[in-house]
Amino acid sequence: MRKTVALLLTLVLALSLAACGGAGETENNDTVPGPQEDTEPPQDDGPAQSDGPSGEATEPVTPETLVEAPGSGPADASHITSVEGVPLITLNNGVQMPQFGLGTQIQSLENGDLGVLNETSREAVAAALRSGYRHLDDAHGYLQERGVGQGIRDSGVPREEIWITDKLWPSEYGDAYNAINGMLEQLGVEYLDLVYLHHPAGDIDTIVAAWKDMERAYREGKIRALGISNFDNRMDAFNAIMEQEIKPQIMQIECHPFAQRRETRELAEQYNIQVECWYPLGHGDQRLLNAQTLESIAAAHNKSVVQIIVRWHIQEGFSVIPGSTNPDHIQENIEIFDFELTDEEMELIRAMDQGESGRYFNINYDFMGGMFNGAPREWEGDFA
Ligand SMILES: NC(=O)c1ccc[n+]([C@@H]2O[C@H](COP(=O)([O-])OP(=O)(O)OC[C@H]3O[C@@H](n4cnc5c(N)ncnc54)[C@H](OP(=O)(O)O)[C@@H]3O)[C@@H](O)[C@H]2O)c1
Repeated sequence: MRKTVALLLTLVLALSLAACGGAGETENNDTVPGPQEDTEPPQDDGPAQSDGPSGEATEPVTPETLVEAPGSGPADASHITSVEGVPLITLNNGVQMPQFGLGTQIQSLENGDLGVLNETSREAVAAALRSGYRHLDDAHGYLQERGVGQGIRDSGVPREEIWITDKLWPSEYGDAYNAINGMLEQLGVEYLDLVYLHHPAGDIDTIVAAWKDMERAYREGKIRALGISNFDNRMDAFNAIMEQEIKPQIMQIECHPFAQRRETRELAEQYNIQVECWYPLGHGDQRLLNAQTLESIAAAHNKSVVQIIVRWHIQEGFSVIPGSTNPDHIQENIEIFDFELTDEEMELIRAMDQGESGRYFNINYDFMGGMFNGAPREWEGDFA
């Protein structure tokens, strides 16, 4: 059972990459056809409350109820400063987050077992922290929180200087408060800086119940910021969360030069929500990493294409979390705060946008069915 989620994640990954022609294919141009031509927009399966930004106008829910950052509890020990030039972003609750960090999903498929310490994650996290990273993006569904936690301890960097993100898996939504405590135990920390609802899968009542559990943990100082992940794929769930007492500080979505997500960014701006990009490097898609536009810009700055892509995200105002298990790449990816892309270069990269068809992973929750319902549940007992 433990391996089921990892296998499902692998399958989802394989499906998405198969749909885009495979991450290993190389083509030296920027105008490749979009990765997914046959993917329908996701269907809502909950009570429809509103359409997306381009849909029929409905009552906007304004982000009036912003709750102050927790005033007591272990999270008050947090002491995150700018390291290696990485800017801090101030979120809508006043909490500051490093704009750049390490994605750790790529390290999760080693053993797919919550009970086993994932050595790849451990080494990558320790390498990243030693290179100056202070932001880690994890998820309960990645099944490697123990490795990430051990990597933090190995690095010698105090926990309170690090931004730690974790994500709840959909089948945990019915008991999210316990799941959050399970995450703390897996990572070996007393608080989390950010917890996302990983996917808007399932019925709206369950999704909202999980959000309320997250609000409780937030008020108790166990979480410093709340986020929604992939809710751009399901507007009824997005709107249901916007009606809750604490609005999200962050939303995590797929975004990179081939899919720049302009509509979703406008939506986030409307609610003063920070956007964080997953798959910033197209999950290593060689068509992106060999794009001629990027190669020319890279040559002009004596930087790599990957550095140009990550720098572009930073200048666009995104938070960005490129994944890597290679210590050289990890070091390379943070060396982007000593140069600046010109306005013209930014425009050239913006012109690479292929809209929704440029996405690799356009999730249809109906189509995926039960795939998002299987979940890790390694924590034992009642932590509530
Ligand atoms: N919320 C969600 O549903 C969701 C979904 C997907 C991902 N995420 C998060 O987003 C993070 C980023 O996504 P991702 O890791 O899948 O994809 P990514 O960051 O777009 O790309 C990672 C790939 O790029 C390669 N790479 C990294 N730096 C490189 C460099 N300097 N030169 C050449 N290749 C380089 C990596 O290989 P090496 O290991 O060899 O460096 C890896 O194959 C994930 O780790 C995860 O934390 C969230």
